[in-house]
Amino acid sequence: MTLDEIKAIVRTVPDFPKPGILFRDVTTLVGNGPGFAAAVELMAERARAVGAEAIAGIEARGFIFGAAIASRLGLGFVSVRKPGKLPVPVLAIDYALEYGTDTLEVDPEAVAEGQHVVLVDDLLATGGTALAAVELLRRAGARVDHALFAIDLFELGGGERLKRAGVAADGLLAFE
Ligand code: PRP
Ligand code: HPA
Repeated sequence: MTLDEIKAIVRTVPDFPKPGILFRDVTTLVGNGPGFAAAVELMAERARAVGAEAIAGIEARGFIFGAAIASRLGLGFVSVRKPGKLPVPVLAIDYALEYGTDTLEVDPEAVAEGQHVVLVDDLLATGGTALAAVELLRRAGARVDHALFAIDLFELGGGERLKRAGVAADGLLAFE
């Protein structure tokens, strides 16, 4: 399957969650067996190529891609969670979203010191979420210098923000 064919499976919903926003919805991509498998395979190849030792994914939609990629590569999966879910003392960070604010948490023991962790999420918009996850994973001791996304909304500048933080952002599908 070509990248254009995978891209065509992503549903675009106008005016969600507010008027004027064109929402790129991965529900249709993960619901399409061949499309999801192709996206996961291509993202896993990229994670393997940069020497990933573990894959971290951001709740919720980043878990779908991240866990599939980790399993494909035989690597462990690090959960970057929304607040109040982990049953142990956590590292936490507040961050600004495209639509509001939120908090992310990780188990400080989820990564080994110096482990090369590749961050995965479904979509890169402003980069606020990914930057917060990178910061948390680094605080936990990980080396984080690559992030993979199924979708890059490149006009929102997330890739440049990540680059300034020393993270190479790689989006499988570019959307305006
Ligand atoms: C969405 C998306 C990314 C983030 C991108 O998650 O899955 O994690 O926003 O936006 P940013 O680059 O501007 O930070 P959302 O917070 O909607 O959570 P969900 O995965 O639980 O739906
Ligand atoms: N689609 C899905 N998730 C998002 C978007 C979008 O366009 N922008 C920020 N998070």
